[in-house]
Amino acid sequence: MSFTRRQMLTGLAGLGVLGLAGGGARYWLGQPADTATHDYELIAAPLDVELVPGHTTRAWAYGGQAPGLELRARQGDWLRVRFVNRLPEPSTIHWHGIRLPLEMDGVPYLSQLPVLPGEYFDYRFQVKDAGSFWYHPHTASGAQLGRGLVGPLIVEEREPSGFRHERTLSLKSWHVDEQGAFRDFSVPREAARGGTLGRLSTINGVHAPTLELPAGQVVRLRLLNLDNTQTYRLNLPQAEARIYALDGNPVAPQPLGKEYWLGPGMRIELALRVPAAGVELPLRNGPLRLATLKSVASSEPAGDWPPALPANPIAEPDLAGAETLRFNFEWTGAVSVNLAQGAAHSFWQVNGQAWDIADRSCAERPIATLRLGQSYILELRNLSQYQHPIHLHGMSFKVLSSNRRRIDAPWFTDTYLLGKQETARVALVADNPGTWMFHCHVIDHMETGLMAAIAVV
Ligand code: C2O
Ligand code: CU
Ligand code: CU
Repeated sequence: MSFTRRQMLTGLAGLGVLGLAGGGARYWLGQPADTATHDYELIAAPLDVELVPGHTTRAWAYGGQAPGLELRARQGDWLRVRFVNRLPEPSTIHWHGIRLPLEMDGVPYLSQLPVLPGEYFDYRFQVKDAGSFWYHPHTASGAQLGRGLVGPLIVEEREPSGFRHERTLSLKSWHVDEQGAFRDFSVPREAARGGTLGRLSTINGVHAPTLELPAGQVVRLRLLNLDNTQTYRLNLPQAEARIYALDGNPVAPQPLGKEYWLGPGMRIELALRVPAAGVELPLRNGPLRLATLKSVASSEPAGDWPPALPANPIAEPDLAGAETLRFNFEWTGAVSVNLAQGAAHSFWQVNGQAWDIADRSCAERPIATLRLGQSYILELRNLSQYQHPIHLHGMSFKVLSSNRRRIDAPWFTDTYLLGKQETARVALVADNPGTWMFHCHVIDHMETGLMAAIAVV
């Protein structure tokens, strides 16, 4: 496979220009250089953070923050991000959930060459859908995401949504010990089971923060699971909260209910009616407190529930004319043949094939080839005892049915949390040409086999 070499060696002079000529370190400020065109310079570099009080963790950060700088664009506009790699190793950026051309998808050797230390790469694409998305590398993912290279990408609706207040909550738990030092991001024993869990949960990089919200207002909470492994069982007891969007796509507003399981890579947007000033509400993962939402006095007149968000322009699959393709996700006890030669552990398979992250040629053997413009039903079958958030690049799909849960209102998503022994049916129109990664978003499942490529030609 060959690439146009968009990437350029910048050298020291190049880096100097980025830092000075543009008016200083503007990317540290959380502001795009140009708000109308959404131009960013996004530098990935090591950064010392204090996750454990009194201790320093050497994280890796985008734009001087871990989780990374919040990027914002407006639906229909172009987003331009100059990604500058000041890490000690190659990297890329993948735009999770964004429907874009393959060359911008950030998959090494498939979309582009890895961006080497000291190089930059210009990502440039039009955002078709409004919603909550995110970005992360697609290289050495366990360690790179684990060290903090994850960040929110918010695409605002074309017209005002009716929400006057919003907050982005990036959920991540860190693989650190009591001194804040990194532990293994993946241990084989865990990778072969539910995945290797972090030990310190944070929201926007802070453990159990208190977030102040204006009393009497309806606030849009964008909750993004940017974690490698953890499925958060989100609940807001005592709160009046409604679901407005799932994984970047609007749904008919509905009560949050008892608990929502947000798998790695998934997002949920809630409207929260903030109670009277002084009230504190826990935001929890199962029984564990993730944050305290504290109501503070507001002089604004009380807000009301906004109307449903407008649907994104995703093609409606033709179910009557759709072909069904079956995908089995299974555990395999097989020991990888050439671990000694540097191959990864292999514990998981899709249709009997394990992806090998050390083998660049895997992407040349797609597990399925779809015809451009055709509708497909994908039957996703989990034959294992662990859940898998199944994610597809390049296209969104509609969740139709499941043998394990009632699906009354199908919704569009890019990631579906497939429960143990669950079979779910999802549908899509194969409308984006290219070869697209299709994988579990538990990072150490993905890195030990649970990944495949789907071609659209
Ligand atoms: Cu967030 Cu390959 O994905
Ligand atoms: Cu993705
Ligand atoms: Cu998995």
